[in-house]
Amino acid sequence: MAGAGLSLGSCSDGSGPPDPSARAALPQPATLLAGGASLVAAGAASGMLRYNGVAPGPTIRARRGEQAHLRLINQLSDATIVHWHGLIVPSHADGHPRDAIPAGASFDYAYPLVQRAGTFWYHPHAHQETASQVHRGLAGFFLVGDGEEDALALPSGPREILLLLQDRDDDPSSAFMYAPTAGDLHRGLLRGTAYGNVVRQPTLTVSGGRYRFRILNASHARVYRLALSNGTALTVIGNDGGLLPAAAQVNDVWLGVGERIDLLLDFTNVAPNTRLMLQSLTFDAPAEAGEAAPQGMAMDLLELVRSGANGASGPALPAALSDVTPLAAPAAERTFAFSSQGDVHRINGLTFDIDRVDVSVPLGQVERWTFRNETDLPHPVHVHGTHFQVQTRSGGRNTVYEYERGWKDTVLLMPLETVDVLIRFAEYRGLFLIHCHNLEHEDHGMMLNVEVT
Ligand code: C2O
Ligand code: CU
Ligand code: CU
Repeated sequence: MAGAGLSLGSCSDGSGPPDPSARAALPQPATLLAGGASLVAAGAASGMLRYNGVAPGPTIRARRGEQAHLRLINQLSDATIVHWHGLIVPSHADGHPRDAIPAGASFDYAYPLVQRAGTFWYHPHAHQETASQVHRGLAGFFLVGDGEEDALALPSGPREILLLLQDRDDDPSSAFMYAPTAGDLHRGLLRGTAYGNVVRQPTLTVSGGRYRFRILNASHARVYRLALSNGTALTVIGNDGGLLPAAAQVNDVWLGVGERIDLLLDFTNVAPNTRLMLQSLTFDAPAEAGEAAPQGMAMDLLELVRSGANGASGPALPAALSDVTPLAAPAAERTFAFSSQGDVHRINGLTFDIDRVDVSVPLGQVERWTFRNETDLPHPVHVHGTHFQVQTRSGGRNTVYEYERGWKDTVLLMPLETVDVLIRFAEYRGLFLIHCHNLEHEDHGMMLNVEVT
């Protein structure tokens, strides 16, 4: 009897192959081509919401120069609209909250894919409904390819891993219900368990050779500081705006809500049967006493189990990955100050008014925008309709990381940081947005209308 009891917790002596069944396998979303497809937003029996019956939504793939024809069909019981985060599209196709469609309606999007290759995503953007609808399962990847990316012969097929990160309740029965507390409406929703591609505590079996990991932070408020548990450096090749000018080797990567990172990881020198963990490292962030899952807590995100199989490492990366022309000579300067009081979140003292134009920017003009975080909360700042180039960061971490070079559509401001960017709306006139991508902050005021004239 005693012997049987003792053996329960240790069915392996550690020498056998690891048993990945303790965690659920990381699924990869199905693919949809942007040239002619529908996205049906609908509820599921579980209370979750889904695009085309799956969560995450299908991965939409397109090539630069193609034309997207996508129909949103709203079978939810609330208004919704899809925004293509990071895609440069005409104002009428951007999914601005004024374009939200009621239950039962549909919306046709038609736009050319004008921007370079990159890891983009799509999610709902109806006024004050974004947090709830993303939380319940609506979000997916939108990947654009082009010739410049093709030339790098990056890992593809089963060696291209998409990872949509969210933090949720540990209990799957409540993990997809949205019932924010007063604390959630101040800090943004923070929960203690990592989900990858909507699966709780996922695992992935990898062979030797090189993989491409395209990682999206689709959480509400959680900032991740990504690192591998064995301390291996990460090779960053891209971010929100596509490929970096040159690859960056770093030990960890900060990933704010809405940001993406594109990594190459090579498991050739990892011994078969080793388990690694993609983790979020701990960092200092103000928390209130008794907070269950504070910002800055260490988290295990994705288990990686090295199988015995080998694979190719592929060609060495060239010194220059991508051609990025620096913006220069700004013709105007603007400041955006981010403040939070309780559940009211403001930019320049204003809460969002869907009908008020807050900023007018001439098409094609380079401007210097200063984002100033006046709070002890992180604010990931996102702009629609263009990408920008990060120039400086002062206060807080006080540096611009190598992996923030190139083009970005979202930049993380940790407490009391100020970030300067150069920005130019080069493609389309019309109404766009600037907002904090903390979903509770976005839904509760921290958003302004930007009109490109
Ligand atoms: Cu990812 Cu305005 O949003
Ligand atoms: Cu966006
Ligand atoms: Cu914010």
